[in-house]
Amino acid sequence: MTKSRLSETPRATFTRMDQSTKDDWDIIIGAVIEHAHTKVAGQVVAQLETLQGDHGGFAVDRLTHCLQTAHLAEQAGKDDEYIVCALLHDIGDVLAPFNHPDIAAGILKPYVSEANHWMVQNHGTVQGYYYFHHLGLDRDARDTLKDHDFYDHCEEFCAKFDMPAFDPEATSPPLTYYVPLLDAMFGPGGLKSRGDVTLAVQK
Ligand SMILES: [Fe+2]
Ligand SMILES: [Fe+2]
Repeated sequence: MTKSRLSETPRATFTRMDQSTKDDWDIIIGAVIEHAHTKVAGQVVAQLETLQGDHGGFAVDRLTHCLQTAHLAEQAGKDDEYIVCALLHDIGDVLAPFNHPDIAAGILKPYVSEANHWMVQNHGTVQGYYYFHHLGLDRDARDTLKDHDFYDHCEEFCAKFDMPAFDPEATSPPLTYYVPLLDAMFGPGGLKSRGDVTLAVQK
């Protein structure tokens, strides 16, 4: 009987993590790194595609908003890492509608600077200046963050790129345009250090 491909894939043998061995973890870490290098960029694209057609009441759908945000950042001369952050900043909208910045910030954390991570993590509160008062909330809620080193970095992102990116008349590149940037960030060489690989597999 021919073995299936699945059965030939090395597997750890433990049934309880407290009985795991270094050999088990060599197998697992190898699989995690291979997955990270070959699959994550595609998973990010697939998740962004789920935003297409989902307007959530806005004038443009959520993918268009992300594309416009990234395009505005690129037009302003921001680097590739920043553009990817702009593209992904609302990737969590359909998964975590009540805390969507946490999703993008979690995905990006091992790959981006502390400043860009903080920007993505906190953009929801900082962006609130433009609409919280319409919801009976305090539009100045972001003032609690004002003393942080990266506040101005985040405020610029919201003011210049996130806030104005709801224009049905605007044109921006399609999602495929950004695939090389996503491959570069999430593929081999994208992680900042081995420490980040370890961080990435912590349960
Ligand atoms: Fe957002
Ligand atoms: Fe946004």
